[in-house]
Amino acid sequence: MRLSAELQDAIQRETEKVDRPRLARATAQLSEHYKAADFSTPAVASEVHRAAYLAVRLPATYAAISRVFAEIKLRVPEAEIASLLDLGAGPGTALFAASEVFPQLQQATLVESDAGWLAQGKRLAERSKSPVVQKAQWIKQDLRSGLSCEKHDLVVISYTLGELPQAAAEAVLNKAWRCAGKFLVLIEPGTRRGFAAINAARSALLANAAAILAPCPHHFTCPMAAAGDWCHFSQRVERTSQHRQLKGGALGYEDEKFSYLVAAKNNSPSTGARIVRHPGKHSGHVKLALCTAKGQIENRTITRSSKDAYKRARKAEWGDAWSDGCGSDMVAWPHRP
Ligand SMILES: C[S@@+](CC[C@H](N)C(=O)[O-])C[C@H]1O[C@@H](n2cnc3c(N)ncnc32)[C@H](O)[C@@H]1O
Repeated sequence: MRLSAELQDAIQRETEKVDRPRLARATAQLSEHYKAADFSTPAVASEVHRAAYLAVRLPATYAAISRVFAEIKLRVPEAEIASLLDLGAGPGTALFAASEVFPQLQQATLVESDAGWLAQGKRLAERSKSPVVQKAQWIKQDLRSGLSCEKHDLVVISYTLGELPQAAAEAVLNKAWRCAGKFLVLIEPGTRRGFAAINAARSALLANAAAILAPCPHHFTCPMAAAGDWCHFSQRVERTSQHRQLKGGALGYEDEKFSYLVAAKNNSPSTGARIVRHPGKHSGHVKLALCTAKGQIENRTITRSSKDAYKRARKAEWGDAWSDGCGSDMVAWPHRP
């Protein structure tokens, strides 16, 4: 997937305000900060670091967010998402993604503690042609202080929960769930640490009567966590030439690894199973690692003799929903952002 030309252009205008060597240094510092996962100090603390985030992180977080939103649309096509609340909004990444995936979106509220990000996000939003992006309400507030919010159809906390101390993360999660009218989306880096934050939130939400829409096809204990593994997925995103220059490497794309959870206020039909590894596509058979409705990891081999299933398995990707059933809605995810 790639960013819209409009968003790419807005990012370009912001990043070209900073000279290239400073931007490259800030990009390297940002990578180091995220690798060390030390959030006792903010990763993005200056205008130059914000520009570096726009250039090299926003495309990846945008891609992961868009994919998760697309999963909601796929699973519950009738769900009308008219309002969005983004907690820890940064430059408004989730707003840009939501305005593309949910055309019915009419109102958006973005909460962010950093004044620099608020100013930056508003500048990007001003350049958008989307009315909902232009008229979004930006609120400067620390999520750890009393967050009072009205109900929004969709509440998002992307790449933020894991940066909060545990007690604060729990409190923010509870508030976010109370503010969610239909869905709460949590996204974290696809690392052991990111997944641990998602899995802890999953347990807390299940205790609060949430229905898990995705990725889990069950409400049991996560079998991957039980096996010392971590559940994560991957979204490919095109790199711009600026991105390639700043991060080095010749590839025209990067794969953003992410962990996520979509909690719903109402139950939806089960996905059947979720493909939790890259499918092994061999001559005459496809090997699938599935997280099943029983809350277990199962390795399945789909051979050419199972005509319909084999056809679907050849097209299936890591992260898709899967069903062995024929003609049911529980098939490999046909839509990719
Ligand atoms: C890694 S950025 C993610 C930005 C955006 N959600 C995205 O997905 O691209 C984390 C954001 O959370 C914000 N943040 C961290 N702690 C916060 C807090 N206690 N209150 C409000 N915002 C916070 C940071 O300022 C930063 O903008």
